[in-house]
Amino acid sequence: MRTPNDLDQLWMPFTANRRFKQQPKMVHSASGMYFTAANGDRLLDGLAGLWCVNAGHDCKPIVEAIRAQAGTLDFCSIFSIGHPQAFELASRLALLAPDGIDRVFFSNSGSEAVDTALKVALAYHRAIGHGTRQRLVGRERSYHGVGFGGLSVAGVGAHRKQFGLLLPGALHLPMTYDKRRNAFSQGQPEHGADLADALEQLVGIHDASTIAAVIVEPVSGAPGVIPPPKGYLKRLRELCTRHGILLIFDEVITGFGRLGTNFASQYFDVTPDIICSAKALTNGSVPMGATLVSRHIYDALMTGPDGAPELMHGYTYSGHPLACAAALATLDVYRDQGLFAHSAKMALLWQDAIHALRGLPHVVDIRNLGLLGAIEIASAPGEQGGRAQAVFQHCFDNGVLVRASGENIVLSPPLIMTANEIAILFGAITKAIKSLP
Ligand SMILES: Cc1ncc(COP(=O)(O)O)c(C=O)c1O
Repeated sequence: MRTPNDLDQLWMPFTANRRFKQQPKMVHSASGMYFTAANGDRLLDGLAGLWCVNAGHDCKPIVEAIRAQAGTLDFCSIFSIGHPQAFELASRLALLAPDGIDRVFFSNSGSEAVDTALKVALAYHRAIGHGTRQRLVGRERSYHGVGFGGLSVAGVGAHRKQFGLLLPGALHLPMTYDKRRNAFSQGQPEHGADLADALEQLVGIHDASTIAAVIVEPVSGAPGVIPPPKGYLKRLRELCTRHGILLIFDEVITGFGRLGTNFASQYFDVTPDIICSAKALTNGSVPMGATLVSRHIYDALMTGPDGAPELMHGYTYSGHPLACAAALATLDVYRDQGLFAHSAKMALLWQDAIHALRGLPHVVDIRNLGLLGAIEIASAPGEQGGRAQAVFQHCFDNGVLVRASGENIVLSPPLIMTANEIAILFGAITKAIKSLP
């Protein structure tokens, strides 16, 4: 007997459940740049699912690899035994990462990749005799997933306020967003490299000997696509090195060609100590996270009694065979289709297209880098984010998926996007903004 299928039982994440259930938005299948609803209506995906599907939906080599893997080795934990795909994938990721970052810890999501990075940072300092370094530094208006670690260093108040005290000792740098000086910057803004110096103030107050790591998104994504000011990340790197603090880049969105390079680290020519990745690692097809760690950190932890685990951390599904197969096929697709180079090429068109919206009613800022973009739409008095929500709804009704995040429409399309699809996307957004009362 089939179970009844109504909308009541599912508690949807980061969703206005009651509103959704009054007015459900369902998709049924997906291919390339489009979702399709049960009635056949198509929806252009302006968000790569949720910053994930860089090679487009229903990418055949990935689908086939998952199918084949499921029929060969469905599951094997990598606690104490292993399977070849997990090792192969780690080696492939080490080749893509900046020099010196060549050890890989697998998990199942961006949140877990972040929590793993924070735990590795703490364990590293303890291993080298710096156990007083226990503070973790994040940044105002940042997003690092929803685990207690990532949430503690995250900087969006609305995400934190329901959940109590979080981790003790977390500190925050100021956000790099400065609308007054940088509004409508094309690519990286000019002003704000000096905001990295706030780390000196934290060191002055708390002493470097208490600080384990700084974590930042190289380009902040979910909270509104905020590219770093020119020189900011280099400055942050210098300060972390000077004070013996590890630098973690949360590249859950910026990894795998989003900026036209393997990782944003290479785009900005700044090498952190640890990189967090997920999402496009498997093209979104199977959940997976990977924390990429510098060799010197790994080596420092390879101590203690031979035969005892060196890090008391791991997930049942770390290195899941289906995820590994999906990721290996995904990396092949990225390479074989030259998708990162295509992304870099389309980014120029993308920049022109998004900035053409300047001057539309209520648009108070536009930001872009690589194939990321945000259009900031001033709220009507007393209706925080209401206009952005209305634009999302209008676009959806007209066959285009965008995401409303506060006052922003945020965009992150599959890297396979063509000039024609860029025109459709921004045509729909323009119409939606013009329709606002
Ligand atoms: C920068 C960043 N870190 C971490 C996460 C969390 O990833 P997940 O939702 O897979 O846990 C996200 C998700 O959007 C993200 O953008």
